[in-house]
Amino acid sequence: MEATRDAAVELLFYVNGRKVIEKNADPETMLLPYLRKKLRFTGTKYGCGGGGCGACTVMISRYNPVTKKIRHYPANACLIPICSLYGAAVTTVEGIGSTSTRLHPVQERIAKCHGTQCGFCTPGMVMSMYTLLRNHPEPSMEQLTDALGGNLCRCTGYRPIIDACRTFCKTTDCCQIKENGVCCLDQATNGLPELEEESKESLKLFSEEEFLPLDPTQELIFPPELMILAEKQPQKTRVFGGERMTWISPVTLKELLDVKDQHPQAPIVMGNTSVGPEVKFKGVFHPIIISPDRIEELSIIKHTDNGLTLGAGLSLAQVKDVLADVIQKFPEEKTQTYRALWKHLGTLAGSQIRNMASLGGHIVSRHLDSDLNPLLAVGNSTLNLLSKGGKRQIPLNDEFLKKCSQADLKPEEILISVTIPYSRKREFVSAFRQAQRQQNALAIVNSGMRVFFGQRKGVIRELAIAYGGVGPTIICARSSCQRLIGRAWNEEMLDVACRLILDEVSLPGSAPGGKVEFKRTLIVSFLFKFYLEVSQILKTMDPVHYPSLADNYVSALEDLHSKHHWSELKYQSVDPQQLPQDTIGHPIMHLSGIKHATGEAIYCDDMPAVDRELFLTFVTSSKAHAKIVSLDVSEALSLPGVVDIVTAEHLHGVNSFSTLGEPENLLAADEVSCVGQLVCAVIADSQVQAKQAAKRVKIIYKELEPLILTIEEAIKHNSFFEPERKLEYGNVDEAFKVADQILEGEIYIGGQEHFYMETQSMLVVPKGEDQEMDVYVSTQFPKYIQDIVASTLKVPANKVMCHVKRVGGAFGGKVTKTGIMAAITAFAANKLGRAVRCILERGEDMLITGGRHPYLGKYKVGFMNDGRILALDTVHYSNGGASLDESVFVIEMGVLKMDNAYKFPNLRCRARACRTNLPSNTALRGFGFPQAALITESCITDVAARCGLSPEKVRTINMYKEIDQTPYKQEIDAKNLIQCWKECMAMSSYSLRKAAVERFNTENHWKKKGLAMVPLKFPIGMGSLAASQAAALVHIYLDGSVLVTHGGIEMGQGVHTKMIQVASRELKMPMSNVHLRGTSTETVPNANVSGGSVVADLNGLAVKDACQTLLKRLEPIISKNPQGTWKDWANAAFDESISLSATGYFRGYESNMDWEKSKGHPFEYFVYGAACSEVEIDCLTGNHKNIRTDIVMDVGRSINPALDIGQIEGAFIQGMGLYTIEELSYSPQGVLYTRGPSQYKIPTICDVPTELHVSLLPPSQNSNTLYSSKGLGESGLFLGCSVFFAIQDAVSAARQERGLCEPLMLNSPLTPEKIRMACEDKFTKMIPRDEPGSYVPWNIRV
Ligand SMILES: Cc1cc2nc3c(=O)[nH]c(=O)nc-3n(C[C@H](O)[C@H](O)[C@H](O)COP(=O)(O)OP(=O)(O)OC[C@H]3O[C@@H](n4cnc5c(N)ncnc54)[C@H](O)[C@@H]3O)c2cc1C
Ligand code: FES
Ligand code: FES
Repeated sequence: MEATRDAAVELLFYVNGRKVIEKNADPETMLLPYLRKKLRFTGTKYGCGGGGCGACTVMISRYNPVTKKIRHYPANACLIPICSLYGAAVTTVEGIGSTSTRLHPVQERIAKCHGTQCGFCTPGMVMSMYTLLRNHPEPSMEQLTDALGGNLCRCTGYRPIIDACRTFCKTTDCCQIKENGVCCLDQATNGLPELEEESKESLKLFSEEEFLPLDPTQELIFPPELMILAEKQPQKTRVFGGERMTWISPVTLKELLDVKDQHPQAPIVMGNTSVGPEVKFKGVFHPIIISPDRIEELSIIKHTDNGLTLGAGLSLAQVKDVLADVIQKFPEEKTQTYRALWKHLGTLAGSQIRNMASLGGHIVSRHLDSDLNPLLAVGNSTLNLLSKGGKRQIPLNDEFLKKCSQADLKPEEILISVTIPYSRKREFVSAFRQAQRQQNALAIVNSGMRVFFGQRKGVIRELAIAYGGVGPTIICARSSCQRLIGRAWNEEMLDVACRLILDEVSLPGSAPGGKVEFKRTLIVSFLFKFYLEVSQILKTMDPVHYPSLADNYVSALEDLHSKHHWSELKYQSVDPQQLPQDTIGHPIMHLSGIKHATGEAIYCDDMPAVDRELFLTFVTSSKAHAKIVSLDVSEALSLPGVVDIVTAEHLHGVNSFSTLGEPENLLAADEVSCVGQLVCAVIADSQVQAKQAAKRVKIIYKELEPLILTIEEAIKHNSFFEPERKLEYGNVDEAFKVADQILEGEIYIGGQEHFYMETQSMLVVPKGEDQEMDVYVSTQFPKYIQDIVASTLKVPANKVMCHVKRVGGAFGGKVTKTGIMAAITAFAANKLGRAVRCILERGEDMLITGGRHPYLGKYKVGFMNDGRILALDTVHYSNGGASLDESVFVIEMGVLKMDNAYKFPNLRCRARACRTNLPSNTALRGFGFPQAALITESCITDVAARCGLSPEKVRTINMYKEIDQTPYKQEIDAKNLIQCWKECMAMSSYSLRKAAVERFNTENHWKKKGLAMVPLKFPIGMGSLAASQAAALVHIYLDGSVLVTHGGIEMGQGVHTKMIQVASRELKMPMSNVHLRGTSTETVPNANVSGGSVVADLNGLAVKDACQTLLKRLEPIISKNPQGTWKDWANAAFDESISLSATGYFRGYESNMDWEKSKGHPFEYFVYGAACSEVEIDCLTGNHKNIRTDIVMDVGRSINPALDIGQIEGAFIQGMGLYTIEELSYSPQGVLYTRGPSQYKIPTICDVPTELHVSLLPPSQNSNTLYSSKGLGESGLFLGCSVFFAIQDAVSAARQERGLCEPLMLNSPLTPEKIRMACEDKFTKMIPRDEPGSYVPWNIRV
């Protein structure tokens, strides 16, 4: 049928079972903003906008009239143009269940299994899981981890999410085989019997019995209207015209060819996972987009004599399924290329991207790190092209990959399909890749390799090798391969091959992406792996002719598998005497858990638009140190929708604010001191308009000297923040004189991005009278925001009210910079008399806000040969960035906490915060401790190596004794520290497993295991009495219901849940009778910052105080009518004019520190713990896998073990990220490269230790704290370094075997690059090295 063009089409699709008709569909609009702003489905969240975080996951369902099947798949709404949704059904988290209708079992279970903390990632998690269940109602564990691999969570550490989802899997009651091949139910070999079982310990944090069953018949049906539409749809091309872009969607192949012929430059958008990010992040603009919709020819799957032909329109997930099927059905020798492709499809991106991205889009995009193109190239694949002019075939070879014009598609051509030949007898294909993270991360280097042996045994007849990630395009080592033809497959050939290839695939020292030596090493390491793989097969095929592989080489062939997770948790059950309705000590679900899971929990940007609301965006500095010569906003101001641009000039007189000792400018005035500094703010009617205008602001800079980016540069220029901090105990210099040995060392610890899932968000609403201003903001410190806004507006604080319902993760990053941005937003709102909203995009957020301080630690340690440390002299340097922020406070905490669990009889520690031209670093969970204590632990490891002892032995020897004294002379009872250490030793079967690890290491050359255990002493306190005061307000209403308010912020840690537990215990009423709305400066004034692990401690004491005041007042009434209800008592009190409202107050913890005398009592109490981790590393690639972690923590008497364990695990995984994979990268000009989840890798579900045991120490002491509990927000983060030291242990084993006996200091994070390069071998020696100074590196260490 001849297709006709219908120019004025309405876009029709369904969302949550309701028809949506969009008359003016704009091709530039993505589904995410459409859902959130237009349809007001705010459950779907923005986390990155580039497909990398999964917060925006929805389910897309499409009906195929040919196969009569409905395909349900998960997709990232941020990359789906609404125009691509014609005829599709979209399901969001709101569509599957709600508190007002019924919950979906996924929603219920994720909440009840404590799988939500801040809840920002939860809707995305729920939708990924829901979609999996739509397709597989009883999924396997593989399918589960695969389905959740594209969803990031920064809070939970994933274990509870896995536990929740596992309840849907077929096998739920066992680990499904552990690393060592032993089942978890087999206690004897598990090593657990070493732990004395305590009868009081409970194991379950939730009860499966109460879960709603999953009933697939209850799900939303696919809209029949859409089926009819698909069946009877007239064959018409649809055109959607927006303001700048036209979307053409042909539905027949002929039409598609016609359209492409007319618009040869227009891209063919399939999954939009390549075009979308280019448009969004690189500013590419396409006036016309062609979207082939439902063209059957693009979805063919055809077997021919030569091979398999796959339609270019198939999604990568579909391709994976097809290949799995073919691999099963066909003999192995025919499916070599398919197996290799299938392997890479398992780790390529997350499930959402694999379901959206098309094979054709992948091939034609030709990304330099494409996982499939190297394999398709070595597999001799052919591209089947079509245009109006006819058919054509071209090879997918190196010329095509280099985009050589004679080998490329012509602009008017379409890729219809790709033919991938079957492999032949004696032909082998393999796939290799190494990324920063095992899954859902672009490869640093990947490779496809193929060899074909002819009749002559073991003689190479064909060889093809292609690499990704090592150049601007995929590179084929064609000439090297050619020269190896005719050679026998032996070590000599390997040696020659390595040298030839290193020569052909050469990388300059300044190559983009950095990691140059690592990449060079991977090039040859992969080749070696291929050599071994093929040799092994040849040997099996012909044992006579081929020597067998040495036993200890076999492990080089195995990948580090992510096996099934299993976990075990132990905590104390409550005293049987406790009243049944008293929930203290019970694992109560997070109060917002269900609302997180249904998408009903409201975050700042979920608030509906206020009348005439405006949007504000910042223009930031592109130079690290420069004078602003001119700032021209005229063009930007003239653009449609732009209302105003605020510069430093407008802020004259109020452009600086100081709370921490040094005034900081809100907007840059004459000079900029870092890239990402706020220069001006553009305010427009919409976000799109504001962003477009911001790009037109013209700033001319004159660069200034010196440019100080690194700690070393700061030291050289004497560029520090004052004061220096110093702590001294004993006599270090004298002690050095009597030590057996003295060693000096240093370690560098890289910074860390907060990566809260909710980016910085605020909405400021002028109330229109009396200069009142309401500030809704995602912050940890409303009082600070109130102060800075009031000061900027020159109004008293009582005119500015700051409200926080909840925060989608903060970790220390939502205080100082948030204040500056809120002040500017408020200034604009005040100036314009209109509400102004400001929501940072992920990239802006990462660029502007700074994070954890990078540290350089230097130490000199004197010790005896038996491992006793006599004296330690350390210096800490932190990279503070351009402004003071909390840098001095951070180094103070670092100094005070650096002793960790050890008694150093003579100690000196000095610390300096460096002033550099980087965005100001700030507080991040742990606040200096994770860096300072790592320096100390590294020193201990170093001492152990010198003494020939295990680090654990040296740790034990130097640990605090029961009653002892800290370096600042505060008394410490370390009984629980020693108890945690011993329990962790026992629980982890440390000795048995240490021996097993050593055995493994002797038997394996290319894989090594490591085991390490670290203790923890984390002091708790806020530094002063004033900083730890807290207040609460409790009202009792006449119906007997209670409203609680306090000064703490709910940012995922569950403080509101704990506060209701407190009120419920004190007032002896059920939790359901108590409500908490949020935090506001209106109800509790002058509240301290929420941070430092003490939010529940302090505010809980205030809530308790308020409740006790009320109870005291009401006691006479209650005793008159003891059987009465709260309603009766409240009414009686009202009648007797007794106030039913009380404030509660806690003065704070006494705290002091005299730095001059190195003496004080800065902390109230100590949290103790220990963790033991085991890892396996691949010495050839630098990959590592966390096999098992055991954690024992002393939490006092837990108020809520579910929340407390959640804090421990979440912090542990965040710490593991800090010390292993999270790596910030800066250009030599101070520009942050890592500005989103595609470049910066936080742990995902694949990084959770395969086995995780968490045990809470039985409470042993009563303390002054709230119900003898301990604050746990930060401490567990440091335990992540057990993984760091386990890797170091494995690396040491590799180095020792290779005869490298000198200890090697490994810096943090211990990335695949560092692991690989530390496992020196003939390949690391073989690569070319560049003379330092002979090139400009792509990135620098700051
Ligand atoms: C978060 C994220 C993670 C990722 N991780 C990985 C990874 O780990 N490994 C990896 O290899 N890749 C990864 N990718 C890249 C991904 O594989 C590609 O973006 C994807 O395969 C492109 O397919 P698409 O259908 O979305 O292409 P689109 O964006 O729709 O199109 C891309 C290009 O292909 C052209 N094109 C598409 N189809 C045709 C056709 N039939 N004929 C002619 N031209 C055509 C278009 O004109 C356009 O120029 C990732 C991408 C994202 C967003
Ligand atoms: S917001 Fe869509 S994937 Fe992050
Ligand atoms: S609960 Fe997952 S990001 Fe906060």
